Parts: sequence; C-alpha cells; structure tokens
Amino acid sequence: MADSSKGKKKKTTDDATGGDAPKDWNPRIVGFLCNWCSYTGADLAGVSRLQYTPEFIPIRVMCSGSVDVAYILKALLEGADGVLIGGCHLGDCHYLNGNYKARRRVAVVKEVMEGVGLDPRRLHLEWISASESGKFAKTVSTFDETLRQLGPNPLAKERLL
Ligand code: FES
Repeated sequence: MADSSKGKKKKTTDDATGGDAPKDWNPRIVGFLCNWCSYTGADLAGVSRLQYTPEFIPIRVMCSGSVDVAYILKALLEGADGVLIGGCHLGDCHYLNGNYKARRRVAVVKEVMEGVGLDPRRLHLEWISASESGKFAKTVSTFDETLRQLGPNPLAKERLL
C-alpha cells in the first residue's frame, strides 16, 4: 500500500496554517513596547514614515519586564494573531534587569503555547533601542510575514481587538 503521507510537509504543532486564512485576513499584532526604548523606536519609525502593517497595536509599558504572562495570554485569547514584546537591549534596561525577566517569562510562555498546540512563533521578543526605528519596522514586518504563514490564531475566541 502506498504511503499517502509521502511528500507532505509534517506539521510540528496543531496550529493552523496560512491555508485556513480568509481572503481579506491580515495578521493582528499586539505589541508591548518598553517606554524607554522600543516605544520611542516605534515613534521614530512613525515620524520617519517607515512602512509596517497597520494591524499593529502598540501598547506602551514601562519595561518589558512588566509584561505579565496574563497580558500575553489575554491578547492571544482575545484575537491577536501574534504578540511582540519590545524591550531595551540587555544591559540597558532602566530598571536594571527587567528585560532579563522578560526573556525568562517569554521562554516559559512559549512552552505553555506549545503545550496547548499554539505555535510559539506567535510570540516574539526583540531588543529595540530608541534610535532603532529601522529595526522596529523590519521586526514588525518580518513578524507579520511569519504570522501570514501560520494563518489566523486558532485559539482566539473572538476578534475583540
Ligand atoms: S526599561 Fe526597557 S526593558 Fe526595562
């Protein structure tokens, strides 16, 4: 008997694929951005008229270390297709070690996501300084591309965002 799975790409998780996306679908991204670095970088990207998806929803937080696990999960359950956390470069955190905490937290949440069948690539952490507007725009665009490949978030209860 012929193996019907031959030549088919194996899925690593139960997450949806881009093939399930409605035609007019665009990934919705919630971004938790540190006030001192990434938010300023995002602001500069806007002033510099750099292009990135309009489906990006920036939320200013005082430090990437203040982004609670509950914020991330709530965003994903309420309609975000991906969550981006932007913080100061390691060693530059205004609260000394907040970004180290964020890094550990993100690693844990990614494991939880894998456990519930949600592709961990839907959560992205990036260090973006206040002067790195180009890096900010590129990070959002690259993340947007990744989410397009993954398709709509299958865990989103409804699109509240
Ligand atoms: S103040 Fe920016 S990551 Fe802590």
